Amino acid sequence: MIALNGMKLGVATAATQIEGGDENNSWADWARRGGIKDGSSPVRACGHWERVEEDASLMAELGIREYRLGLEWSRIEPKRGIFDPEAMEHYRREIISLLDRGITPLVTLHHFTNPLWFENAGAFESEGCVVPFREYVNYVLNSIGDLVSDYITINEPNVYAANGYLFGEWPPGKKDARLALRVMKNMALCHYAAYDEIHTVRQELGAAGKTRVGVAQHMRVFDPLRRFNPVDRIAARIYERVFQTALTDSMSFGRLRLPLGLGVPVKRKRYYEFIGINYYSRFAVKGTKLVNFPGRPENDLGWEIYPEGLTRLIRKCARRYKAPVFITENGTCDRADAFRARYIRDHLAAAAASGANVEKYFYWTFTDNFEWAEGETAPFGLVRCEFKTGERTVRASGRFYAGIIRENAVTDALQKEFVGDVK
Ligand code: BGC
Repeated sequence: MIALNGMKLGVATAATQIEGGDENNSWADWARRGGIKDGSSPVRACGHWERVEEDASLMAELGIREYRLGLEWSRIEPKRGIFDPEAMEHYRREIISLLDRGITPLVTLHHFTNPLWFENAGAFESEGCVVPFREYVNYVLNSIGDLVSDYITINEPNVYAANGYLFGEWPPGKKDARLALRVMKNMALCHYAAYDEIHTVRQELGAAGKTRVGVAQHMRVFDPLRRFNPVDRIAARIYERVFQTALTDSMSFGRLRLPLGLGVPVKRKRYYEFIGINYYSRFAVKGTKLVNFPGRPENDLGWEIYPEGLTRLIRKCARRYKAPVFITENGTCDRADAFRARYIRDHLAAAAASGANVEKYFYWTFTDNFEWAEGETAPFGLVRCEFKTGERTVRASGRFYAGIIRENAVTDALQKEFVGDVK
């Protein structure tokens, strides 16, 4: 049996990936311009905007008590400075209906998509982004700050910057390494502003509960492919530093570290109450190339399945940032639902084995959704979503996860039934 010692288990989603119906964001635009491999678009997605109640009920049926959800900025502020109170009211009602069911929300303010007016003005390419981002956060906090105490300001700035500005595979499709670094730096500045704004508004509102703010950082393990090869070893360290450590440090401590800045403090203080880790996989580093370790298990997207990586990252972060850890995303693409249960079991075991204070764990994701450039072909869900009809069906791995939540442990009986062996 794997005891979880009170770790709170939930699920995570992102607005654009599930809602459907919004044409006014950078990803709907990217889809219109042919950027999605299967030709799909987030304008369809899972129809969650219309099915908010149904999804909340299904979560409650599965015993889910923790939910990381995102807000769609382009719905809330469709034009610069023009806010839509109806859209905001929709989110407020959603949050109330979650709370009524005993589900605690963790709200993400930015998850890869931008309103078109912001995208067309250069998004995070210049420091000018800080003012509008802060205004948006201010509006949101004044609308839901009394209900929600925990926030993620920005999801995975490194993935946003790398895919959109280095590899050119995501909007805006640019390939410019210096610009990618500048975008990450400016996202750090937006995080500082949002962090202060969230605390200030919640205080002004006299809101109950301790305010907690963090970032969902995409973290990978980078290991040298050839263990004793000095080039692979040094390159692995550089990758780790540039892709994640410098960014997480900068966003946490108010000081922009190389290569984002020269280490000069913007304002030296702690900009987090928890450390959010999105963990999926590891890279093997061969010279300057990123490859996979041969012979290791992989998911349907070819990502190595490496649970020990989670133990290693949690330990590192707990030591370095001295704050509760939230696993803000962890999950896998498994079309046949053949290994998802094992994946969950092994990653929960890895989180527990870290011995650190892992307060919350959010499985990515609740229902299959619009998986960015992969479109509708990469199912990560505990619940299957039939995109044409919107029909939801709980997968075996979903029932397994519900059992784990109920027991707050991965019991031997659950492992036997859903994984087929016992750890
Ligand atoms: C993102 C999610 C995405 C998931 C699986 C994470 O990088 O935050 O939006 O769906 O990975 O690819």
